[in-house]
Amino acid sequence: LTVMLCKANAVRCTLFCPLSPQGGKLWGGRFVGDTDPVMEKFNASIAFDQRMWDADIRGSKAYVRALEKAKLVTTDEMTRILQGMDQLSEEWSKGIFVIQPGDEDIHTANERRLKELIGEAAGKLHTGRSRNDQVVTDMRLWMRDAISTVTENALQLISTMVERAAAEIDVLFPGYTHMQRAQPIRWSHWILSHAVALSRDVDCLQEIKRRVNVLPLGSGAIAGTPFDIDRELLQKELGFDAISLNSMDATGQRDFVVEFLFWASLCLTHLSKMAEDLMLYSTKEFSFITLSDAYSTGSSLMPQKKNADSLELIRSKAGRVFGRCAGFMMTLKGLPSSYNKDLQEDKEAMFDCYDTVHAVLQVTSGVMSTLKINQSVMEAALSPDMLATDLAYYLVRKGVPFREAHGISGKAVFTAESKNITLNQLTVEDLSAISPLFGSDVSSVWNYRSSVEQYSAPGGTAKSSVTAQVEHLRNWLKKQAQ
Ligand code: ARG
Repeated sequence: LTVMLCKANAVRCTLFCPLSPQGGKLWGGRFVGDTDPVMEKFNASIAFDQRMWDADIRGSKAYVRALEKAKLVTTDEMTRILQGMDQLSEEWSKGIFVIQPGDEDIHTANERRLKELIGEAAGKLHTGRSRNDQVVTDMRLWMRDAISTVTENALQLISTMVERAAAEIDVLFPGYTHMQRAQPIRWSHWILSHAVALSRDVDCLQEIKRRVNVLPLGSGAIAGTPFDIDRELLQKELGFDAISLNSMDATGQRDFVVEFLFWASLCLTHLSKMAEDLMLYSTKEFSFITLSDAYSTGSSLMPQKKNADSLELIRSKAGRVFGRCAGFMMTLKGLPSSYNKDLQEDKEAMFDCYDTVHAVLQVTSGVMSTLKINQSVMEAALSPDMLATDLAYYLVRKGVPFREAHGISGKAVFTAESKNITLNQLTVEDLSAISPLFGSDVSSVWNYRSSVEQYSAPGGTAKSSVTAQVEHLRNWLKKQAQ
């Protein structure tokens, strides 16, 4: 009997009628058969998109104001919807919102609950709106906040690194290219090389944020809205910088997600590189740095082990995040215009990359602020062969073309190696046998501190240049805080 009653009331009953074949589905009207249970689960995104509950509520609150302005809901209905939304918000934040089996996604769940709270007026909220413009509005609001958080995390890390570089500016150690000893550099120069990459990441993220902060609401499912929805009001209410220009593009593109995924991939690539260096420096063989216990773990078998697990995980995450980026790009490739359910794949990629980058940045800050450097080991690792370039420059200063000076210095390296002595142990006689331009003043080359001081052009490793880099980054950080 109830089934018959329900069928008779089909028009009124389809929305949220527990007895209609499609239960409380937002789209149940034209359906007579049930959804396969496996399909039901396969189709649902509530398990992950519930993270956007707050954005979904903010979007709906703004939307109901636009509906009221367009006289599609009365002021009284608007007030009831707004109050209902506030109650929803409270339930979510207290963790007492109960997700029902039919709650396909966050949009369905919130609308279902709103109806339970305020009754039929809830059914007016979706007027002229589609989940196609709703979901992308939620995502843009969510990502805007996520970007603010990871920006904070990145700035914290950069500031830790810059202050560490300032404090340890007098420490020298070997610089490597191809992982072979190259030239003496300041330890702070190494730190700042990574801080500069991160500052580029932050700049890049701010540009992405501009493109994220565009309002899609009011685009409907594909064609736009036939109602007097004031999109400028929506823009103002929700704090968007701009309004999407084309409803098909607004609902059917996920460029902002891809940009974020790529951003996370590049940022973590930078950090993986830094982690790799630190791991090497922390080995017994190098012993340049000692990682804090707080960021190390042990072995269940070998009692002596102290493993740099923090650094290994930091290194690993670039792979995970780029996997998300590449995977989602593949999902997008060749999709037809406008919204397709494939786009639902965007959220797990976005959440996972955010969670990963958020954690990595914080752990890296911890590692960088707690590690100890072993200055004497670092400086003892410098060797005279690393000054072979300076030996060539000594000749350049005496007018020898660099190409020729390079060859002469190379011969000196070869001679020292054949004599099994270090480069600085070659006598002036040994050297002047290679080039008559070598004089007793050549001894001035064999000093690591005066070597690094020569590299004083902007960007170099001389104290003045590294200090200028520190100052530049300090000013840049100050600007970011404004
Ligand atoms: N859960 C969906 C998603 O994440 C919401 C949009 C659904 N739109 C639709 N036409 N079925 O993409």
